[in-house]
Amino acid sequence: MKIGIPCETLPLEKRVATVPEVVTKLIQLGFSVAVQSGAGAAAHCDDAAYQAVGAEVLPDAAALWAASDIVLKVRPPSEAEVALMRPGTLLIGFVWPAQNPALMAALQAKQATVLAIDCLPRTLSRAQKMDALTSTAGVSGYRAVIEAANAFGRYFNGQITAAGKVPPAKVFIAGAGVAGLAAIGTAANLGAIVRANDTRAEVADQVKSLGGQFVKVDYEEDGAGGGGYAKVMSEGFQAAQRQMYAQEAQNADIIITTALIPGKPAPKLITAEMVQSMKPGSVIVDMAAEQGGNCELTVPNEAVVRHGVTILGYTDLASRLAKQSSTLYATNLLRLLEELCKAKDGVAVVNMEDDAIRGLTVVKDGELTWPAPPLKAAPAPAPKAAAAAPVAEKKSAHGPGKPMSGKTLSIVFAVLAALFWVIGAYAPVAFLGHFTVFVLACFIGYMVVWNVTPALHTPLMSVTNAISSIIAIGALVQIAPPEVGMAGRPDGLILWLALAALVLTAINMFGGFAVTRRMLAMFRK
Ligand code: NAI
Repeated sequence: MKIGIPCETLPLEKRVATVPEVVTKLIQLGFSVAVQSGAGAAAHCDDAAYQAVGAEVLPDAAALWAASDIVLKVRPPSEAEVALMRPGTLLIGFVWPAQNPALMAALQAKQATVLAIDCLPRTLSRAQKMDALTSTAGVSGYRAVIEAANAFGRYFNGQITAAGKVPPAKVFIAGAGVAGLAAIGTAANLGAIVRANDTRAEVADQVKSLGGQFVKVDYEEDGAGGGGYAKVMSEGFQAAQRQMYAQEAQNADIIITTALIPGKPAPKLITAEMVQSMKPGSVIVDMAAEQGGNCELTVPNEAVVRHGVTILGYTDLASRLAKQSSTLYATNLLRLLEELCKAKDGVAVVNMEDDAIRGLTVVKDGELTWPAPPLKAAPAPAPKAAAAAPVAEKKSAHGPGKPMSGKTLSIVFAVLAALFWVIGAYAPVAFLGHFTVFVLACFIGYMVVWNVTPALHTPLMSVTNAISSIIAIGALVQIAPPEVGMAGRPDGLILWLALAALVLTAINMFGGFAVTRRMLAMFRK
């Protein structure tokens, strides 16, 4: 079967449904691949790159749709694209059947088979490799922070420079799903103080693990609505939440909103009054702009300034990292095609007995098959969002890492014990005293440094610098040698050198503690 990749026609859309690296693997599955000329240009994949891996480049959309048995797309097809579609085509891409009834009717009329990647049963652990919603949301959450940083006139991290003290930016994230967690991790890594809220209490630990602080609404109600998604909250909860958000808005420099409820308009969480209460120069990134927005003043696809606050309503955040999101999306679709073509013979078989494929299939040979019946098996417990993985990996690079196996540990201990025995047996006695202190110092240093959060390493350095001023004791001993008491005074030069050392170490000591105190104050909320 021939897989076709048309150009995306929606304005601002830069992504492409597959990239040359993935085309090679599609060909290994037995498919042939055709790409419309220029389809990958905005995602930095030119025609020559596709041709080099064995894809055919077709000049226009009409030729592409006419030649393809399977069409991979990012955005739902337009009316014009459906008109070009051959009857019986297998279409795979984002479709959003609930929001697009006219499109669904047109696809049925074409006798098409449609796999809507947005309808994947995400709680099936087997389906995670195909979860394009998660990979897209992860990219968007990251990009939302970058857009916020671009519009914000300050650093994210706090700094003390010769030119003065810069406080860290305060970021508040509304909604800690996949996109929200990616935004929390990115903003925290940039050094901001991050606070986040979600109606689902279960995400509190995930927020903390990414360096954020979970802010709870003072009202007992859990927002979990099944399948990992949220439900519409009661009036009482919403009133308490508005009160809490009003306080957060006053303190925050940046608000990123990601709150969504499947099949419903985005909840309005940030009112015009809250925007007015924010400091001038603050930024709101409304990631729910496409679904009506979480902020009352958002204008979809535009950056507007209201009451001195920049409100970004971009709906193409994933597309702004076109190569990255196209590659992730292409890999998700490749995994789906591997499921459809287990025989690797280039023939896609839509097996309606498979839970994941059944969930995705919204039209089968012109018959409406959406919505899919609920999953028979109990869903596996929701793992941490995929977006969190790179951040968690990065954190572990600062920490002690994977514990050693028992065998390796015993070998290390045996080698060290033998080494110490040799040193103890042959080294001079004077050396042994110093060596013992050195080994203990290494051990204590290791335990102290590796148990301190990486973010606190700079204040740790300044405090150790202050402690290193213990050299002051040496200066004091020189000024008043203990063995001779006040009777035996040192000679003039030693006395003056000791006094100078005392003054310098005093500056180091008091300065070090003062800088540490100021740095730690920046981390206090
Ligand atoms: P989403 O994009 O539909 O919603 C974003 C977030 O907004 C959700 O966390 C939701 O609880 C929150 N929200 C909704 N209304 C709110 C309100 N009024 N105030 C504050 N927050 C509100 O959801 P997304 O990000 O696509 O996925 C949500 C969750 O689904 C994930 O966190 C995960 O737990 C689960 N999931 C599970 C998967 C699996 O089991 N394999 C895969 C993907 C997601």
